[in-house]
Amino acid sequence: MQVNVKNINPKECKDEVLAVAMVQGAKLPFPELTKSIKKEAFEGKLGQTYSVSTLDKFGFKKLVLFGLGENKEFNLDFVRRFAGAGIRYAKALKTASVALALPKTSSSTQETAQALAEGAILANYKCIKFKTKKEDEFDVRNVTILASENTGDAVKRATALANSQNYVRDINESPANIATPQMLAHEAKQLAKQNKLKVTVLEKNDLKKMKMNAVLAVGQGSVVPPVVVVLEYNKGKNLPLYAVVGKGITFDSGGISLKPSKGMQEMKYDKTGAVAVLGIAKAVSELKLPIRLLAVFAATENLPSGSAQKPGDIITAYNGKTIEVLNTDAEGRLILADTLAYVSKQKPKAIIDLATLTGAMVVALGRHRIGCFSNDDKLADTLLKAGEKTYERVWRMPLDKEYSEMIKGDLADVKNISGKGEGGSITAAAFLQEFIGNSKWAHLDIAGVDHIPDSHSYLEKGASGIGVRLVTGTLEKLAKR
Ligand code: BES
Ligand code: ZN
Ligand code: ZN
Repeated sequence: MQVNVKNINPKECKDEVLAVAMVQGAKLPFPELTKSIKKEAFEGKLGQTYSVSTLDKFGFKKLVLFGLGENKEFNLDFVRRFAGAGIRYAKALKTASVALALPKTSSSTQETAQALAEGAILANYKCIKFKTKKEDEFDVRNVTILASENTGDAVKRATALANSQNYVRDINESPANIATPQMLAHEAKQLAKQNKLKVTVLEKNDLKKMKMNAVLAVGQGSVVPPVVVVLEYNKGKNLPLYAVVGKGITFDSGGISLKPSKGMQEMKYDKTGAVAVLGIAKAVSELKLPIRLLAVFAATENLPSGSAQKPGDIITAYNGKTIEVLNTDAEGRLILADTLAYVSKQKPKAIIDLATLTGAMVVALGRHRIGCFSNDDKLADTLLKAGEKTYERVWRMPLDKEYSEMIKGDLADVKNISGKGEGGSITAAAFLQEFIGNSKWAHLDIAGVDHIPDSHSYLEKGASGIGVRLVTGTLEKLAKR
């Protein structure tokens, strides 16, 4: 999809569809077309839409009205939803070009234009790569934003961010027989080539030499070997170093602590954190953020077999700490233990990890907020604020000492579950904290939001690609400090 900006009056619009957003109770535009619309049919309530034919009175054929709700409730996300509605309309009408009139909002023109372009690009994505008949799906090729100010830069930013998010959605939708650890390593190499990043793929033998035993332990039940991927942006430059780390379980069966079969297919999404890390590296490099970025993930399957790890096994992680593996289904924290320890050795200014870590997170926050655990108030605050802007909303969770007490090992230094079945997301975060050294760190548990069960205004159901805009926005803020 191509997003253009035009400085013309909507009246001069020549695209087939013109979409206009309005706050509740505002005077309808184009009175010659809208004067007969009854208040019951359209009054501008949030999400309300109404379309009218122009009967050749204008250069465009259809006018689509979208309600932004009341001014005092305004949120930038309403603009993304407006764009989503416009794109859906164009798709339904099989129209290749649509114009979106930039609404006046309480946010800046640039922010509004960015949200509008993001919504359009996100709404245009649907995973069709496994369908043999592609023509069933219609692609909107041209979107024009009608604005009276220059918003080209905002649209460029939106394009980098939303395309990176769609890139994550597309990889994430691939199931485990396709998206293997090797495929993720291949994707990382492709990205590195395109975006001039340095890439290192640590294979099983490298991991053995380096003593990344926790990654190896999780992977040992599978016939496909685990990998650790390291991407570096602006390597060697004199810029502050930040790190992002992701959980890349390409399929989580639970291992010997096997999960119930119902819904197990959703565990293809257990790689979301790792794929988000790829998306963040893509966005950061395309936006040319003035930082160095270390983007790392381990990728492996978690399967039961004769060679799989067993409950009770004791392993030594990369930082030398010993772990009692009491439940093989608490595997994400094991691979993160090694990768967080590896990253913290390079002394970044902050580490942010993303992981579909615990089912308990879905119980606590449902499917609308990301759980954030952090040892640094400023970092947590920056994430929370960024999340309000991008509408990848974040909620801070606690990390008191008592939770760390709960995962002290009986035989080893730590155990991978408390065994009490209480505060499961927090004890998981407390476990991760054992592997970050002195780093400033934030852990994002994205278990409830990695995919969405139903389509909404600008996202199709399925992989959400959450975290890309959030973490990139956060890094941008941190870089400015
Ligand atoms: N990948 C799961 C967490 C998960 C569950 C993500 C549901 C999305 C939806 C993770 O590896 C896991 O299995 N965690 C266990 C931990 C338990 C054994 C302490 C869980 O949440 O049940
Ligand atoms: Zn698991
Ligand atoms: Zn898992």
